[in-house]
Amino acid sequence: TTSGSNAGLSRGLWSSRFAFILAATGSAVGLGNIWKFPYVTGENGGGAFVLVYLLCIAVIGVPIMMAEVFIGRNGRHNPITSMRLVAERNLKSPVWRISAVIGMIAAFAILSFYSVIGGWAASYVGHAAMGDFTGGTAESIGDLFGGLLASPVQLLAWHTVFMALVILVVSQGLKGGLERAVTVLMPALFLLLLVAVGYATTTGHFGEAVSFLFTPDFSKLTIEGVLIALGHAFFTLSLGMAIMMAYGSYLGNDVPVGRTMVFVALMDTAVALLAGLAIFPVVFANGLEPSAGPGLIFQTLPLAFGNMPMGDLFGTLFFVLLLFAAWTSGISLLEPVVEWAEENTNMSRTGSAIVVGMLCWLLGIASILSLNVWSDVTPLGMFAAFEGKTIFDLLDYFTANFLLPLSGLLTAIFVGWFVAKESLKADLNLHGATFALWLNLLRYVTPIAVVIVFVYNLLG
Ligand code: PFF
Ligand code: NA
Repeated sequence: TTSGSNAGLSRGLWSSRFAFILAATGSAVGLGNIWKFPYVTGENGGGAFVLVYLLCIAVIGVPIMMAEVFIGRNGRHNPITSMRLVAERNLKSPVWRISAVIGMIAAFAILSFYSVIGGWAASYVGHAAMGDFTGGTAESIGDLFGGLLASPVQLLAWHTVFMALVILVVSQGLKGGLERAVTVLMPALFLLLLVAVGYATTTGHFGEAVSFLFTPDFSKLTIEGVLIALGHAFFTLSLGMAIMMAYGSYLGNDVPVGRTMVFVALMDTAVALLAGLAIFPVVFANGLEPSAGPGLIFQTLPLAFGNMPMGDLFGTLFFVLLLFAAWTSGISLLEPVVEWAEENTNMSRTGSAIVVGMLCWLLGIASILSLNVWSDVTPLGMFAAFEGKTIFDLLDYFTANFLLPLSGLLTAIFVGWFVAKESLKADLNLHGATFALWLNLLRYVTPIAVVIVFVYNLLG
């Protein structure tokens, strides 16, 4: 039968639909929402960028997310094998698994620098707890951040801590620890973001931030900005990285995929928008540049915490939660490659987690050095488009803006055009207009949008 059989269930399942929602939300909500969304929005002019981003989430992100979960649940193996099995069941070439291969390469590359940023979050837990933000000025907070980036030793230490935390959980298997942690952490993160937004309303610049985020000025939007919005939609929903395939492979057959993924996307979007509302008022109140780049939250939130009542406490809690959000996402980045290594080599789960994690840790060192010793090293600097981009910048840029959309595109074409409709309907429990809407988004809207954006960017 082409519809999801329960074969392969010996691998175990999530203990409930809720557990899957938490794990998927844990993967989605991370540095992408709190660190990356505000700074790419700042770099790309605000409102118009946000609008395009929201459109990408709704029209491209959610349908692909459902397609990935379908493949994982239908295949019930690691992403590459699942993709091959689903292809074979539909009498199509196993070559489609290339999209899972691209996704896993992307996941590996992303984790290498994601862990470095996770390390920044870890180091800021310490700073907040020791009161280093108290009474801070834009300058003192800026110096603190500059000091961290200038020190390869500190960066390496925190990168190592972060990667060790990720390896630890992945080597134990997905369930248990992860499920329990996320149940508590997600609501807590939400609450603390609300506290930060509450402080932001007292800066006198809240209205300015709201109009920056929500008043589209299309003259500020470039075609590169559209590509970045699309890439970030993939990044933030953890798409194009075979992750939802890996998580879907443990999902019970009775769970309604459509509603569940819409909920995960809504949570993710809410956290990103709240982060924007917490950060931009502080940026404007302190005369900081919205386009400050990757350091944005590390230069703004500490100012807010340093100048509010009980700021040390809130600041510490906030960075602890940011660290946990990054942790649950980091776990999901390591999972697909480890799942693959475990099923295809003679290494155990623990061995796979350690070996893959250590290789990724090694690659992360290139990103660390990009921030200081190698800050002038720009391997593709001879091309105008990549001028000034360090290795770190390039890893970030290529994964998010090229590999993820490409992998997503292949997944959309494969599921949209090559999987039997009856199998999709049965597995996803979608009918009538909802099914038609989903299928058409996957068949036409996603491929056309991704291809147009790619072509425009290649033409410069
Ligand atoms: N979605 C995560 C975030 O927004 O931080 C990051 C991420 C996790 C990206 C897992 C990709 C991924 F596969
Ligand atoms: Na996200």
